[in-house]
Amino acid sequence: MTAGKFIVFEGIDGSGKTTQVKLLAQWLEKQGMSVLCTREPGGTDIGNRLRALLLDPSCRDITRRTEAFLYAADRAQHVTEKILPALRRGDTVLCDRFIYSTLAYQGGGRGLDKEFLARLNELATGGLVPDVVILLDLSVEESISRVLGDRLPDRLEAEKSDFFRQVRRGYLEQAAQWPRMFKVVQAGVAVEEVHRSVLVSLEQVLT
Ligand code: TMP
Repeated sequence: MTAGKFIVFEGIDGSGKTTQVKLLAQWLEKQGMSVLCTREPGGTDIGNRLRALLLDPSCRDITRRTEAFLYAADRAQHVTEKILPALRRGDTVLCDRFIYSTLAYQGGGRGLDKEFLARLNELATGGLVPDVVILLDLSVEESISRVLGDRLPDRLEAEKSDFFRQVRRGYLEQAAQWPRMFKVVQAGVAVEEVHRSVLVSLEQVLT
């Protein structure tokens, strides 16, 4: 049993998760709540080493399954070392990515079997699920234009846009599958407006 609330932020790269985690943490702290902000991959020292490996462009030979296992290893360490102790203390935990990233990126994006990934996630987390998932939804075009400005995408960036389309679809399918857990927030508007929508979507969880 845990005392604190567990809130996860998800979304494609560039959807503004990190900014929204910070704004929500500031708001919760103003209400007198004790908050832990953390992220995956890289929420622990071990996890930071795995993150460096996972994001290293020279690790081209990494297989899809190996990649999934490394994200799961990061998660197993993170849940045990950081998330569960904080929830047991009664802290509110804000986590930038969790199991849903694996389902969207390794499942939707890389095409790995969803059942295999669900089992892997279960083993990594011991069955821990959040109270709520805030999905910051952004079109792939908006995400790319945020990153590139007026420049046209090159070949690799164009390939990446197909990948992100699959990832986004993966997220929206999860939101449809677990409508009570997922709150979909439109992320293509001003930061403050997104923050207000996040607060509205958390009303039930925080009262
Ligand atoms: P970040 O940019 O949000 O810090 O995440 C790092 C990258 O890792 C991002 O491209 C998404 C990816 N990722 C996965 O592919 N699977 C996962 O399970 C997680 C947690 C992240």
